[in-house]
Amino acid sequence: MEIQPSVSINLRRIKMNTVVYPGSFDPITNGHFDIIKRSAKVFNKVIVAVLVNPDKKSLFTPEERVELIRKVTTEYPNVEVLSFSGLLIDFVNRNDSKIIIKGLRTITDFEYEFQMALMNKQLDSTIETVFMMTSAKNSFLSSSSVKQVAAFGGSIRGLVPDKIIPDVLEKFRKE
Ligand code: PNS
Repeated sequence: MEIQPSVSINLRRIKMNTVVYPGSFDPITNGHFDIIKRSAKVFNKVIVAVLVNPDKKSLFTPEERVELIRKVTTEYPNVEVLSFSGLLIDFVNRNDSKIIIKGLRTITDFEYEFQMALMNKQLDSTIETVFMMTSAKNSFLSSSSVKQVAAFGGSIRGLVPDKIIPDVLEKFRKE
C-alpha cells in the first residue's frame, strides 16, 4: 500500500526564477560579486539593478557602474545588468520578477534592510524580499570603505574584483 503524506506540498508554487539584486554599486565590491555569483546558482536569472539617483553624489556615473558590473559578470550567462530610477517594486514588476535579493552583513544592515523590505511589501504584497548572508571574508566590505582606501592610496586588491581595479584607480587619478 502506498503511504500518502499527511501534508501535501504544492511544489509548483515554488518558483526560483528571476531575482532582482538592487543597489548603488558605486563601485561593485567583492561582497556584491559574491552575492551575484551565489544568487546565479540558486535562481534561473539574476538582474543586477543599478540605482540612478540624481540626488546622491556618486563616484561613478550609472552607466559606468553598469559597465563595471558587466565587465565582471561576462562569464555568467544568467546575469543581466540594468539601471533603474523610481520605485524598485515597479522595476521588479516590469522585469517579470517577484523576488528581490539583498545581501546582509551586520545587525546594522538588518535594521535598514528590514525597513526597506517592509516598505516594499507595503507597496506591493506580491513581491518577496529574500536575504543572503555575506561570506565572512567580505563582512567588513562596503563601497564607501573601498573608495576611502583608494582615495588615500591604499591597496584595493581583494576588495573589488581584479578586473575593475584599474578602473577604480584611474577614477581617483582623475579626481
Ligand atoms: O546599495 P544601496 O544604496 O543600499 O541600495 C539601496 C536601494 C537601491 C536598494 C534602495 O535605495 C532602493 O530600492 N531605491 C529605490 C527607491 C524605492 O523603491 N524606495 C522604496 C523602498 S524604501
